[in-house]
Amino acid sequence: MRKKVIITGISGQDGSHMADYLIKHTDHMIYGAIRRLSVNNHRNFEHLKEHPRFQLINMDLTDSHSITNAVREIEPDYFINFAAQSFVAGSWDYPIQTWETDSNSVLHMLEAIHMFAPNCRFYNAGSSEEFGDVEYSPQDEDHPLRPQSPYGAAKCAARHLVRVYRESYNLFAIQGWLFNHEGTRRGLDFVTRKISHNVAKIKLAIEAGEPIPSFSLGNLEAMRDWSDAEDMMDGVWKMLNNETPQEFILASGEMHSVREFLETSLNCAGITFKKHGKDDNEEYLTTDGQIIMKINPEFYRPAEVHELLGDSSLAEDELGWVRHHEFEDLVRKMYENDYKLLKG
Ligand code: NAP
Ligand code: GDD
Repeated sequence: MRKKVIITGISGQDGSHMADYLIKHTDHMIYGAIRRLSVNNHRNFEHLKEHPRFQLINMDLTDSHSITNAVREIEPDYFINFAAQSFVAGSWDYPIQTWETDSNSVLHMLEAIHMFAPNCRFYNAGSSEEFGDVEYSPQDEDHPLRPQSPYGAAKCAARHLVRVYRESYNLFAIQGWLFNHEGTRRGLDFVTRKISHNVAKIKLAIEAGEPIPSFSLGNLEAMRDWSDAEDMMDGVWKMLNNETPQEFILASGEMHSVREFLETSLNCAGITFKKHGKDDNEEYLTTDGQIIMKINPEFYRPAEVHELLGDSSLAEDELGWVRHHEFEDLVRKMYENDYKLLKG
């Protein structure tokens, strides 16, 4: 019989990539979970809607009945939870909703699986944000959890719940640690896509001979370990199909600053720039003096995670996980995609 996979967060970046990955690499039936929104947000999975092995189901993470009903009715072989309030900065504005979505909902999933599908393999999306105020670099699977945001704390709580259910009921339940991963399906609030989108807008204005639209950023010195989201899906699937329910780090092992992402994007666009001012007053300008980007302290966070760098050697050695994309390819891919989208 065909195996059944529930994927939550199907309208987001990772859920939609995972659905594409499983359609391509397995013959499983995919149940993509969405919540109803007033305005359709199906862009990331529109291409899958007519596929015979893809079916949409309704599930809101803040409604435990919708989670239990899906597990009871489908009795999935795999449950991959990619849904979350995933925007770290937003977790100070909506801490309760973040906790409900990123922690409580995981408890409801574990309970539903324990009750109605105890052989189901469960993956919850863990994050490098759980390491937060890091003690050493690169971070490995033994690094302590030191979250710096309501988001990071909720992911840590979920990690403990996953472990408790795994050990109490012998469930195959895991939460890998994924470091930042980006791509053409990334939401516009995240810094990489915000940069690629705005640089593309500026390039089009320059080409049209119009005044350029400037944009703002916060902390340019933050360092992140950025991978291509498409590389991560194979690692998650390998974790889920490992002999034992073991949790791994997936990361690039390279660290780059937000500043470096910005400058690489401008270089990809062929935009020559100069810099002016310091700290809160820093600006990037075109050679004819138009403002490309200026710092806006509103984008600073109440507590910052200054640097993240992952050591994924365990996943590489034990799962045979391989990354295919490098930092510069990722920046170029994101910029070129936004340029094409905006050009129409
Ligand atoms: P994303 O693009 O923001 O997608 C989040 C998904 O969650 C969306 O489909 C969203 O649906 C859904 N969602 C949010 N609240 C919901 C609710 N109450 N009920 C049902 N669905 C809800 O995030 P992503 O980048 O794909 O990340 C996937 C997962 O990995 C998240 O758990 C994130 O925290 C984690 N993670 C991501 C990264 C990364 O760098 N991307 C790194 C580590 C961990 P709507 O479209 O309806 O809002
Ligand atoms: N979003 C945003 N917007 N971030 C900015 C800006 C800005 O204008 N300016 C500077 N930054 C800095 C943030 O302060 C942060 O240090 C860094 O850019 C990355 O921010 P985000 O792109 O919002 O991602 P994140 O690292 O906070 O969180 C992402 O990665 C986590 C894994 O480490 C998300 O995908 C999380 O869901 C994920 O868990």
